[in-house]
Amino acid sequence: MHVTVVDHPIVAAKLTALRDVRTDTPSFRRLADDLVTLLAYEATKSVPVEAVEIETPITTMTGVRLTNPPPLVVPVLRAGVGMLDGLTRLLPDAEVGFAGLARDEATAQPFWYADRLPEDAAGRSVFVLDPMLATGGTLVAVVEALLTRGAETVTCVCLLAAPEGIERVRAAFPDDRVSLVVAAVDEQLNEKAYIVPGLGDAGDRLFGSAPTTP
Ligand code: URA
Repeated sequence: MHVTVVDHPIVAAKLTALRDVRTDTPSFRRLADDLVTLLAYEATKSVPVEAVEIETPITTMTGVRLTNPPPLVVPVLRAGVGMLDGLTRLLPDAEVGFAGLARDEATAQPFWYADRLPEDAAGRSVFVLDPMLATGGTLVAVVEALLTRGAETVTCVCLLAAPEGIERVRAAFPDDRVSLVVAAVDEQLNEKAYIVPGLGDAGDRLFGSAPTTP
């Protein structure tokens, strides 16, 4: 797995504001949206294109367009939904699938409660959106499902990652079909599997703390 930590002063400044406990939900959403678009610039740099002949007002030339099938964007419910607009702004033709997973408290393993992914993802460039790469269990399950369905490449776009999560995803997918683009790698997970220093519960900060029942 190839990991890119985006090193850019605007990314760092927006991420600092996002982490700040005083940042309210409307500002948090806006910052997350901006950050995803900045990360998306890096995450989409290998998206496949093909040559196309066009006419400018002056002459003809060969340019490029994205190939078919279009990229597939997969936000992981719930917090990944807060990253969707930021990514599709750069890929307006992308199709969108959804992955809903929750943690089984008895086994500590993620289980699926919503699988809205195409049965056949052959040849697709896929972008998985999950703001927090914590233990990595959810991301491993989602990436595995996409590769099993034939995805050509899977790029995970995260705002923050813990070293433990990165190692788990790397161990599961050592080859270069899978990559990760992230704004920062934090210190560690705490005993409740929150990223430290992190930004708290990304879903709650994006959407409020209304309880969810998968
Ligand atoms: N999910 C979150 O929302 N925050 C964390 O710190 C870890 C997982």
